[in-house]
Amino acid sequence: MAQKTMSRLLSQREIRQGVKRMAEEISNTYKDEQPLLLGVLKGSFIFLSDLVRALDIPVSIDFTQAMSYHSIESNGNVELVFRPTFPLSGRHVLLVDDIVDTGYTMDYLLSQFGHENPASLKVCSLLDKPSRRIVPVEIDYLGFTVPDRFVVGYGFDYEQRFRNLPDIYVLETA
Ligand code: IMP
Ligand code: MG
Repeated sequence: MAQKTMSRLLSQREIRQGVKRMAEEISNTYKDEQPLLLGVLKGSFIFLSDLVRALDIPVSIDFTQAMSYHSIESNGNVELVFRPTFPLSGRHVLLVDDIVDTGYTMDYLLSQFGHENPASLKVCSLLDKPSRRIVPVEIDYLGFTVPDRFVVGYGFDYEQRFRNLPDIYVLETA
């Protein structure tokens, strides 16, 4: 098996500053609306937990999970494997994901939940990898734009490992 090496892309401190900036924007926009933050499992679980603690407005929290058929490469065959438990109708829904890569996942979730009559439906993503985009996705709240590299840590995994690392690293095959 090829050797993997890691180099740090974003430190805990940089991530914290990015999350704080996003939380301020979200707190201002949704002041009187008690938005429903819909975390996209599993990758967003650490980001979402930091984000909600940096907000100073009332929010509801729920989760959803989508899967595509490959472990590293996403493709167009996205499937909803876990549905939100709250009804979305009439709610201001904010989808919270770890990264928008090809865009297939977010595009699919937007079209699924768009049919459920939310009062509004927007996207918050910690990372954006625009060089990989296949389907256009508008990101309303973004942390960082990253190069075309595979990242791990802070919720991001490689074959289910490394999610617990506090920083974000690029995983390279040496
Ligand atoms: P999509 O290609 O935009 O549909 O992204 C699908 C999912 O692939 C993301 O939500 C992540 O969970 C995962 N993903 C994409 N790029 C990376 C990466 O660099 N590291 C870890 N997971 C990634
Ligand atoms: Mg994901």
